[in-house]
Amino acid sequence: MNVLCIGAGYVGGPTMAMIAKQCPDVKVTVVDINADRIEAWKSDQLPIYEPGLLDVVKESRGRNLFFSTDVDTGIAEADMIFVSVNTPTKTFGQGAGRAADLQYWEKTARQILANSTSDKIVVEKSTLPVRTAAAMQRILDSGSGDVHFEVLSNPEFLAEGTAIADLESPDRVLIGGHDTARGQKAVQALVDLYATWVPRDRVLTTNVWSSELSKLAANAFLAQRVSSINSLSALCEATEADVAEVARAIGMDSRIGPRFLNASVGFGGSCFKKDILNLVYLCETYGLTDVADYWQQVVSMNAYQQNRFVANMISQMFNTVAGKVIAIYGFAFKADTGDTRESPAICISRQLVEERAEVVISDPQALENAEHDLSDIMDRIRLEKDPYEAARGAHAVAVLTEWDLYAELDFERVFEVMMKPAFIFDGRNCLDHKKLFDIGFNVFAVGKAALSHL
Ligand code: UDX
Ligand code: ADP
Repeated sequence: MNVLCIGAGYVGGPTMAMIAKQCPDVKVTVVDINADRIEAWKSDQLPIYEPGLLDVVKESRGRNLFFSTDVDTGIAEADMIFVSVNTPTKTFGQGAGRAADLQYWEKTARQILANSTSDKIVVEKSTLPVRTAAAMQRILDSGSGDVHFEVLSNPEFLAEGTAIADLESPDRVLIGGHDTARGQKAVQALVDLYATWVPRDRVLTTNVWSSELSKLAANAFLAQRVSSINSLSALCEATEADVAEVARAIGMDSRIGPRFLNASVGFGGSCFKKDILNLVYLCETYGLTDVADYWQQVVSMNAYQQNRFVANMISQMFNTVAGKVIAIYGFAFKADTGDTRESPAICISRQLVEERAEVVISDPQALENAEHDLSDIMDRIRLEKDPYEAARGAHAVAVLTEWDLYAELDFERVFEVMMKPAFIFDGRNCLDHKKLFDIGFNVFAVGKAALSHL
């Protein structure tokens, strides 16, 4: 079987590398219009940082895993086509700021139609609004009718930083297909592909719409947990409760469960906000205003948490950060990735620059993306890979990504090179606060009482 994936990004690249590794008899080709990206996939400097990914790619590259910019030939030769092009939030026109921008995706559908001379199974991998598969089917069916296209929904649930483990042993694989003979045959072909390494009982099959909605719902529920614990972190700071203790206590209730209850400076990443806004837009489209408002609040709480973090920094630092050097530890939206899409660090850096602080950003993997995200204000920002150098002359350190290396730093050394009084704002609760306080820092964590010498 020939499998093609259109879109060599965070989803398409790792997913196809895993399929190629697990199914050596299947020829997997990944195409993208971005030639630099494809060149990077062919090299040892992959375009995305993901622990363990290079080993998986190297195992199959050149054997049954190929990267190319020739989208048309790829389509012509494929039996099964995964579509994982980007579907950003619309920035213009109707639904701007909320609806998904489907222009790349629609172009892809038309390109598939134009280059197909044999039947194809087309698999939606990108997260798309519910009922997008129907639109894709309509575009594909607008051809002469000699070629049959069967559209499936197969959303990807991998999380960045743990993509390889998630792909190797997923909680579930979800496949949505039509309840027709051809639809079910296509579903079976995809089930068989995954069943090479995923236990059958973890491969769920549903109708197309349930599958599409489940992806949005899963991300909405996960983000809601983060917003829920973050909302309580504000209350903890106002009282003497400790958010980590509260999270532990509620997480031991097996109905709630312990994961995804870490209070933070806010969630980021390419999916959570986009998918919730998509869900909100969808609800509004169907006249379900109360449902839309309910989910919108998850996103609003996330913005509140980021604004609150900056407001707290300013207020603790004697109501001004103007002219002060602030070292930001971590720019990625979470640890173990270089991805900065929707990272809270973007909005926080911007607000600090607006307050006329001198911002120095440190991150082991994300500095290139940081430079791109903040290109319009780079004249007021410095990038410094070495965290000790970043702290030199700084009034405050703000930890915005929970990289292991920050917990392992020699903070006596950091303290020595900083201005006094020295402040630490731990937006990820990943440091030893008592130890920092004993060194001399004034420590402000999320959802915990301040440890201040002032
Ligand atoms: C998410 C989903 O987990 C994944 O299933 C889906 O396919 C894509 O979206 P991802 O965005 O890679 O994955 O990262 P995730 O681990 O879910 O974290 C999202 C954000 O929430 C990060 O900024 C993270 O730091 C934050 N977070 C997560 C918290 O602030 N607290 C937590 O307890 C958990
Ligand atoms: P995700 O996180 O969903 O994987 P990315 O932005 O990382 O999203 O990747 C999407 C990829 O899709 C990008 O590399 C982009 O160049 C590619 N892409 C977008 N439109 C097309 C298209 N029409 N044909 C081929 N590739 C495309």
